[in-house]
Amino acid sequence: MLNELLKSRTVPPLPLASSPAEWEALRPEMLKALQDNIYGRMPAAVPVTAKVTETDDTFLANRAIYEKVTISFDYEGRSYSFPVQVIQPKLRRKVPYFVTLSFREPVFDRYLPAEEIISRGFGIAIVHYKSVAGDDNDFESGLGPMAGDRTAPDAPGKIALWAYAASRTADYLLTRPECDAKNLIVIGHSRLGKTALVCGAHDERFAFVISNDSGCSGAAVTRGKCGESLARITSVFPYWFAPRYAEFAGRETELPLDQHWLLALTAPRHLLVGSAVEDTWADPASEFLSCRAASPAWALYGLPGLRSFDRLPVPGEKYHDGYIGYHLRPGAHFMARTDWCRYMDYIAANKNK
Ligand code: GCU
Repeated sequence: MLNELLKSRTVPPLPLASSPAEWEALRPEMLKALQDNIYGRMPAAVPVTAKVTETDDTFLANRAIYEKVTISFDYEGRSYSFPVQVIQPKLRRKVPYFVTLSFREPVFDRYLPAEEIISRGFGIAIVHYKSVAGDDNDFESGLGPMAGDRTAPDAPGKIALWAYAASRTADYLLTRPECDAKNLIVIGHSRLGKTALVCGAHDERFAFVISNDSGCSGAAVTRGKCGESLARITSVFPYWFAPRYAEFAGRETELPLDQHWLLALTAPRHLLVGSAVEDTWADPASEFLSCRAASPAWALYGLPGLRSFDRLPVPGEKYHDGYIGYHLRPGAHFMARTDWCRYMDYIAANKNK
């Protein structure tokens, strides 16, 4: 049934390029289209400072070091800061870090198998999203004022600000000697999966960009999408987006782009998209379709994007043999241990040397 639906759907092609150089020349205008129409301007990167405020050298049965760090910066005459929790496995080698956009602050969370992640040799930097900026219409606290005049059509919404914080976290991580700069990862679930995609599209230092169940205005193609629609998301969560986005409610086909542009901006790096079969609100078929439609960007580099085009995977199956990895998990909308394991397996197999 879903596969039949897929056949009847069309998405606009990616902007035309015939070489990596041409594609890279298009990147700025593609990013601008995303900013102007959907997420709002991405504030310019500025230098950060970091201060460790808490340390535990014997974390996780002495297998890791825990540090709470305040990241600070100045932007347009104001000072901002937000906390990040860093967990470093005690290993005598560089480690790939997950910049984990997280719904909850505590490290011990049932959606974050921290012990398992550490024992597999990854570091974790937890960016608790509400400690960056509230998940609401308040643009006065946290990083909110960076949005400037929120009546401007392209004013940044909260997704852009959370993504900005993930990039500033990368700035800091890259100063740590144990951080493997070639294998930096950004990951998030749902609204934070949308955020991870926006961050990864803008910030090419992330070698792996991971979206779990990000759905509407995330990995899923908007045209013809089932479940949550542009009209619904912009009426319930207007503050996630640039004000202009709401103008396309019910007029999706007039958008000058679709979400596969966002995915394609990860090329030629690795992109992982996970869906859950019962998550009809996010719409796995539209996420899959988007991965398929983004693939030509990797082809420009002679790399395989999504390898299996013809049908959606059955629940439990994964298509992890291209630069775009897609999996469909049985069950509902959440970031499961299974999802984490799939992502870690993929990264372990595809790490940059
Ligand atoms: C709501 C919203 C989704 C979002 C989700 C989440 O369901 O409609 O777009 O992804 O919240 O963040 O959990």
